[in-house]
Amino acid sequence: MGTDLHELLRSLRVWDVDLPSFDPATAPAEPLALFTAWFAQAVAAGQVEPHTISLATTDEEGLPDVRTVMLHGADASGWSFATHIDSRKGRQLTARPYAALGFYWPAQGRQVRLRGPVTNAPSAESQADLHARSTGALAAALTGRQSQVLGSLEELAHTSEAAWERALREPEAPVPTWTLYHLRPQTVEFFQGEARRRHVRLNYRRTEEGWAKELLWP
Ligand SMILES: Cc1cc2nc3c(=O)[nH]c(=O)nc-3n(C[C@H](O)[C@H](O)[C@H](O)COP(=O)(O)O)c2cc1C
Repeated sequence: MGTDLHELLRSLRVWDVDLPSFDPATAPAEPLALFTAWFAQAVAAGQVEPHTISLATTDEEGLPDVRTVMLHGADASGWSFATHIDSRKGRQLTARPYAALGFYWPAQGRQVRLRGPVTNAPSAESQADLHARSTGALAAALTGRQSQVLGSLEELAHTSEAAWERALREPEAPVPTWTLYHLRPQTVEFFQGEARRRHVRLNYRRTEEGWAKELLWP
């Protein structure tokens, strides 16, 4: 029996939870403070995996690409994520060091979007960030060859097994391709969903004088 995708889609709802109100007049002068507050509220609201991000890059032809990564931090150096520099996204970022990030927290009908240039952290910072994470994260990084064509699942199992053994034996094993990236946003948009679709969009724009704020039509 095939699934009726359209019927299934029509049965689903959005904005069907208790949505918090958001008064943009009370928003702080810069976006990091608001992001930090919203992130803490997403955690408190029980949002599953609020630290996952859609990371959009462009390929050598200028065409878009997107995938999920984890947020490693947000501070004065920007919003940080990590990956292999020789992965598909790593190569795209080397060629065009500019990206967009998207967070979606459905528990509160909230979305945050950022766009800006991306820089690589120094190797020592990237390695320290990796070694502060779980054994599984290190084993995954040690497995390597991300985005290359894989011959078989047996090949993956074999390489991953060796990577896990090494990660357990050598918790500071270096992974030279592993790179921490910082996105320094030019714009950060906060979106608060509203049951009657009067969604509130507050956009921060970086200017020479500091951050400018503006509301956007939903
Ligand atoms: C929840 C989740 C978290 C992920 N986190 C990361 C991450 O932090 N870094 C990473 O390189 N890949 C991560 N991945 C895998 C990427 O989505 C992607 O498959 C991989 O990085 C290869 O992407 P690329 O071919 O565009 O380079 C994650 C996937 C999921 C579903």
